[in-house]
Amino acid sequence: MRRTALAFVILVTASVTAFAQSLPSWSIWKNQRGSIMKVFAVAPDRSFKGVYINNAPGFGCQGTPFDLTGRVSGSKVTFTVVWKNAWQDCKSKTVWYGVDLGITMPTKWTLTSAAGKQKGFDQFTRQPF
Ligand code: BTN
Repeated sequence: MRRTALAFVILVTASVTAFAQSLPSWSIWKNQRGSIMKVFAVAPDRSFKGVYINNAPGFGCQGTPFDLTGRVSGSKVTFTVVWKNAWQDCKSKTVWYGVDLGITMPTKWTLTSAAGKQKGFDQFTRQPF
């Protein structure tokens, strides 16, 4: 696990120099778990809103849209989903920390619930309109 984390950091650091981007407004992203993130307008203060549809096997709150809030700082992107909407309440929250490389956005995330914290990696790929 530590080697994987180290490899991830090295890969991101090496890639950022050459390919760093700033998150585009109105972009759609899909991760390796099949989840979808839709980014609405990125505001002048670099905050943004969107929706997240979780399709990840092994997790709750699947298949419906959840509000997403985030912030851009250069190529760094942070976004949060509180897993409560009109249909589902998982009583949990996820924060992702990533780097926009243009077509891809590797992220690390922390899912916090009453049971504790779970951490992982998501690789988002930008989708065509
Ligand atoms: C929960 O099960 O408490 C809420 C759903 C959590 C879904 C997680 S967030 C990190 C990972 N990436 C995804 O796209 N879905 C899972």
